[in-house]
Amino acid sequence: MSDTFQLAYLGVEVADAAEFGRYLTETVGLAPVRSPHSGESRWRYDDKVYRVSMVEGPANDASYVGYEYQDLASLERAITRLRSLGFEVSAADEAAAERRQVTQLHRVTAPWGVSVELVTGLATSQDSLDLPLHPGGFRTGDHGMGHVVFMVPFAELDDGAKFLVDGLGMALTDYLQREGAPARADFFHANGRHHSTALIGLPVAPPQRLNHFMVESASMDNVGRAFDRAVAFGLPIPRGLGRHDNDGMFSFYAETPAGFLIEVGTGGVVVDDQWEARRYERASMWGHQPFMPAEPLPTR
Ligand SMILES: [Fe+2]
Repeated sequence: MSDTFQLAYLGVEVADAAEFGRYLTETVGLAPVRSPHSGESRWRYDDKVYRVSMVEGPANDASYVGYEYQDLASLERAITRLRSLGFEVSAADEAAAERRQVTQLHRVTAPWGVSVELVTGLATSQDSLDLPLHPGGFRTGDHGMGHVVFMVPFAELDDGAKFLVDGLGMALTDYLQREGAPARADFFHANGRHHSTALIGLPVAPPQRLNHFMVESASMDNVGRAFDRAVAFGLPIPRGLGRHDNDGMFSFYAETPAGFLIEVGTGGVVVDDQWEARRYERASMWGHQPFMPAEPLPTR
């Protein structure tokens, strides 16, 4: 890991914007904030002005993801590394940076096709934050907004890893590969969070690029209550409550109205410089089984 940096924000394009918005606010429990831009909706859950941005459109996928470097020097080192790997990095103009509410903004397209924004200075909000569904709030700060996980064709996994490690400056935390399986998941850290980004290499063409994003709440009770709300919402819950083997996260994964998943968790491990990457063979210590409600899910 050459420089500490953070996952700062996620931009998604969603077909049913109203339903997705309702889901983030009422089910997950993030705080909607007024976007200064028409056609864009935003949510925050810490002191930053926003963490998730949504526009309406057919993709049902991530449009961009922002990583915040601690200063201009570390941002420039990342740009130099990316360019030396052959990636085209472009500086965005002041208006574009202002739109994202950051000081510096550069863009590069990740090998898996999502626009990656390298930024400094994501603005801090002056407004008070009300998170009635998450007493104690979310773990962010130096650990960033949480994590994002993208799906890539298996053959492109190593290109993606090179981009994240040799380009952006992350380090491999560990990887999940079952004996003989034609799939692998690689987890990368950019700070103390076990992974800010992971890539799942699949033997088939992925249905969309974003598999899920994760928000880390302050307590198990908050996660449990969010799980109850997700059940009540009625969309499938591919992984009920459980604890991951690698990052120790107690969490569940629910399908959002956009098709990609959200993971709501708590208690992830913190990695340090002594961390050694390892291979592991099971995603979870326990749980994370598909949740099957006793009653059929309501037709939505
Ligand atoms: Fe996750």
